[in-house]
Amino acid sequence: MITRTQPVETPGLIADLDRGFSLPARWYTDPSITEREIARIFRRSWNYIGPLSQLASVGDYVTGYAGGVPVVAVRNEHGLAAFVNVCRHRRHEVMKGRGNTKMMQCGYHAWTYDLAGSLRRVPRAQSEPNLCLKDFPLLQIRIETLGPFAFVHLDDNAPSLMSLYGPLLDIIAASGIDLDALVPHSRDEWRSQANWKTMLENYLECYHCAVAHPGFSAAIDVRPDTYKLASHGWFFSQTGPVRPQALAGDTKVALYNVAGVVAQSQYHFLWPNVTININPGFPNLSVDVWTPDGPNATKGFSEQFFAPGVSEEFASSLIAFNKQVAREDDELTDSVQRGLLGGIPDRGRFLTASEQLVGRFQRMVVDAVGVDA
Ligand SMILES: [Fe+2]
Repeated sequence: MITRTQPVETPGLIADLDRGFSLPARWYTDPSITEREIARIFRRSWNYIGPLSQLASVGDYVTGYAGGVPVVAVRNEHGLAAFVNVCRHRRHEVMKGRGNTKMMQCGYHAWTYDLAGSLRRVPRAQSEPNLCLKDFPLLQIRIETLGPFAFVHLDDNAPSLMSLYGPLLDIIAASGIDLDALVPHSRDEWRSQANWKTMLENYLECYHCAVAHPGFSAAIDVRPDTYKLASHGWFFSQTGPVRPQALAGDTKVALYNVAGVVAQSQYHFLWPNVTININPGFPNLSVDVWTPDGPNATKGFSEQFFAPGVSEEFASSLIAFNKQVAREDDELTDSVQRGLLGGIPDRGRFLTASEQLVGRFQRMVVDAVGVDA
C-alpha cells in the first residue's frame, strides 16, 4: 500500500527547496495555509489597484481588494488617496466599480464621505446626540505608483513600492514600450480551479511551453539558451525573443501580427501576486492579479493596455492569443491541483535550472508564512 510521505522536519524544508524538492502537497490544499498566506503575505504586500490614467481627475475612483479587504483609491484635490472601502456604520462597501464622483456615499443608509474620507452626512444624526461625525472617517491606507500603475498597502510601515520594484520600469522601457503613453483597453475577471501558488509556479517557468503552448512557442523562442530567467529580488523577469519564422509568417499555427516595435517578450512577476506581460509586435502590456479564493481556487483580473492608435484587429487578435495561452495553462494547473489534492506523492522534484524562479518563489512563500506552517 502506498502511504503518504511524512512532511520533512522544518529545518529540512528550505534545504529541500534548494535541492529541487517542492513544498509539501498540503501547502496547496489546506485552508489553514491559505489563511496564513492572507495574513502574512497579502496583508503585508503592495496590491495593484488600477491604472493611474483612471485616477487622473479629481473625483476619479477605482475599487479593489488588498489582502481580502475592500479598498478604494481616489483622486481628491490634494492628490491620490486610498481608503478601506467599508462604511464605518454597518461595514457595507461604500463604492463599487470605477468612475468619477463628488462624494463617497454608502448605498445602504447613505452615510456620505468626502473625497478626503471625512464623514460629512449621516441621515438622522441630529437625533443621535452622542454620534460625532469626525470620529468616523473612512480608514486611510497607503497608495503609491509604479510608472502608470497604482498600488495600495494596508501597512503604513512597509517599504516603498519603488524601493521594491523600481528597476522594473527600466527593463520594460528597454522593450520599446512607453509606459506613460499606455492606454487602458479592456479588463477581464476570471476564476480558476487551482491554488494561487500552483498557477504562479506555472507562470514562472517556460519548461512546459514547447509541450503545452504550440501557438506561444511558434511566436516566442522558448529554447533554454535564448529564453532568459532572472531574479531581481522582489520581482522576477522572463524574456524571450520573437522567432524569425514568426516574423516571416512562416509558422504552422496561425499567429497574431508579431512584427512591430517590441521584438522581445517580457513576463514579469511582482511578489506576491502581480504579473506584467509584454508580447512582440505593436506595443502592448497586460497586468494580471492572482488572488487566493480558498486553497483550491484562484480569482483574478487581467487589464490589457496598448500604445495609442492600436487597431481593433490587432487588439482582439493579441487578446485572443493571450486567452489561448491562459486556457492551456488553466488545464495544466487544474490537473496539478487534482494531483495535489490526493496528497500522493507529497513532494515534487523540480528542475533547479529551468525552474529556478519557482524554487525562489516557494522560498519566499516559506519565508513569509513560516516553516512551522
Ligand atoms: Fe504556460
